[in-house]
Amino acid sequence: MRQVSVALVPDSRASELIPVMKGKGMVDLSARITSENGFKHVPIVAGREDEAVAMGLEISSGPAYSEESRPPLERILAHITGVPSELLELLPDKWEIAGDVVTLKMDPALSPYSEEIGRVYAEVLDAASVYADVSGVSGEFREPDMRLLYGKGGESVKLENGIRYCFDVTKVMFASGNLAERKRMKDLDCKGETVVDMFAGIGYFTLPLAKFSGARMVFACEKNPNSYAFLVRNLGLNEIGNVIPILGDNRDIPGRRFADRILMGYVQTTSEFVSKAMEMAKPGCIVHYHDTFEVGTQASRVKEIFDEHCGDGKYQVLEIREVKSFAPSVSHYVADIRVFPSD
Ligand SMILES: C[S@@+](CC[C@H](N)C(=O)[O-])C[C@H]1O[C@@H](n2cnc3c(N)ncnc32)[C@H](O)[C@@H]1O
Repeated sequence: MRQVSVALVPDSRASELIPVMKGKGMVDLSARITSENGFKHVPIVAGREDEAVAMGLEISSGPAYSEESRPPLERILAHITGVPSELLELLPDKWEIAGDVVTLKMDPALSPYSEEIGRVYAEVLDAASVYADVSGVSGEFREPDMRLLYGKGGESVKLENGIRYCFDVTKVMFASGNLAERKRMKDLDCKGETVVDMFAGIGYFTLPLAKFSGARMVFACEKNPNSYAFLVRNLGLNEIGNVIPILGDNRDIPGRRFADRILMGYVQTTSEFVSKAMEMAKPGCIVHYHDTFEVGTQASRVKEIFDEHCGDGKYQVLEIREVKSFAPSVSHYVADIRVFPSD
């Protein structure tokens, strides 16, 4: 392993001296700072050893442990110099990656240091653009609120389970917590089925289901023109021919008793759309009903909703599974329900 000069900085003075050394460009950032016997061993750029000595530090030599083998957050912390030490613990320790775009939630106290934070996260995570996710998604269209910290922004492409999702994080949501459900849509056996996705978005569920499940035809309805535009692009990008995209409100989809399967990938007001689903469903149709419920109440709440909109005895709950946690003691669930609507 390559050897480097290291300055021995007592642990008690590390938070004071290391930022100064980094600020002066003396620290070799390609190698890792290590700890031993009460000292930080700080790799020094070749030829800058005298400056460390002038700071009263002893110089030794040691192996240049590769930066790449360190967890990203450690590397981020090692590269940040301008954030006061008392705020370092507020730095985001998780983030979402979509292609070459990173999104992260940032504490407002870090706002004055946004520029450096964006640049360092981009360098360490190898991203072209970094956004702060300001307030999650909101409204009927589930629109995001993102602030660009670094880079030019724009569209990104996320590859997941054999599907390429193209989208712009400033215009449409992408829920990473729904990964298992997107995978489940890919693994369903829908041979010969006519499927309706009532809340298609950019094709989160439509794309894996249409491409891999054997469905004959998927009608994918989306009301938000931005999401719809990405849905249409994603159908082309993934060479999917068995989807008819529909721009508009799913309550205006024409036709009765034609669907073998209906996806209702929307939460919180989903129950308002069950009667429309019942109109489109063939007897025996499977509905994948998403909603948020207080943990433990999901079975009784699903029964209440389907008793009201489908009729007692006109449906059978096959399975209810948790998709992700939504809020303290509230989860997002999906219920698979076989329905037998009658005219
Ligand atoms: C939550 S997003 C899709 C989420 C995706 N199923 C997932 O869980 O990752 C729901 C989409 O439904 C669309 N939407 C809301 N109401 C609608 C309606 N009445 N008809 C069609 N689309 C609708 C929104 O614009 C949004 O893109």
